Amino acid sequence: MESQSGYREIVPGTKISHEYWDQGASEYARENLEHLTIDRLIWGPEGWDEAEVRWLGDPSMLAGRQVIEIGCGLGQGTRYLSSLGAKAVGIDVAAGMIREGIELAARNKAPAPPLIAADATQLPFAADTFDLAFSAFGAVAFVLDLAALYSEVARVLKPGSRWVFTTAHPMRWVFSDDPADVAAPAMRRSYFDRRPYVEMRGEVATYAEFHHTLEDHAAALAAAGFVIEDLKEPRFAPGIETTWAGWSKERAEMFPGTLLISARLR
Ligand SMILES: C[S@@+](CC[C@H](N)C(=O)[O-])C[C@H]1O[C@@H](n2cnc3c(N)ncnc32)[C@H](O)[C@@H]1O
Repeated sequence: MESQSGYREIVPGTKISHEYWDQGASEYARENLEHLTIDRLIWGPEGWDEAEVRWLGDPSMLAGRQVIEIGCGLGQGTRYLSSLGAKAVGIDVAAGMIREGIELAARNKAPAPPLIAADATQLPFAADTFDLAFSAFGAVAFVLDLAALYSEVARVLKPGSRWVFTTAHPMRWVFSDDPADVAAPAMRRSYFDRRPYVEMRGEVATYAEFHHTLEDHAAALAAAGFVIEDLKEPRFAPGIETTWAGWSKERAEMFPGTLLISARLR
């Protein structure tokens, strides 16, 4: 069957198979675990570690809290939260990621909080279940309908709880994917061009990365009942030199690669 990739319109209802994540789980583990480690919550390529930055708040206040990680991948963030005594659960749409995460924990004799295969836009939990939701580069960039995602997160959160997440900063898509393209990076597309990067096999999208602008995030959060309390555009943490796709320390000095939003449900 014919495969195609590139920036293209994708209409609501297009089948997204998620097989990129599902089948690529062990490769993701191989490529990323060196800098992610198996039980630390690292917020993104800039290397900020939750144990140091505390963007989820005072760790002592998280013990006993019901916490959900959205797009948990191998579950390292969920394991970190559970190490603080939180009742943490991780969900990810890719069963392969969940399987890999569970095996990885077993091999390393690490604690095994529940990791569940589920789509972030259809969470298998009752309303008002969680005290905190978080995501490190999880589902946010991979969902077309941000409003549907944020209202589903809002549904499972208790009123007054926070939703804290990182995702690709919308400025990232303006420039090339080459982390070494730093001298005078050329604009490759408009900030306002919302066409996602998609890999298609026939009529099925096997990978899709959506371009949501800051305005899109703000509108979808407000519609779901969230108030933005904090927004960060982190540069690289001291000592971090990793390059990852289009992210590099040099580029981070010129334009943001990662967006962190902390929003509270009214
Ligand atoms: C870049 S990885 C990040 C994984 C993990 N948070 C980390 O920091 O390593 C993105 C993850 O989001 C998951 N994902 C993509 N779309 C999703 C969806 N609709 N619902 C839940 N998870 C999704 C992918 O399967 C993948 O594991």
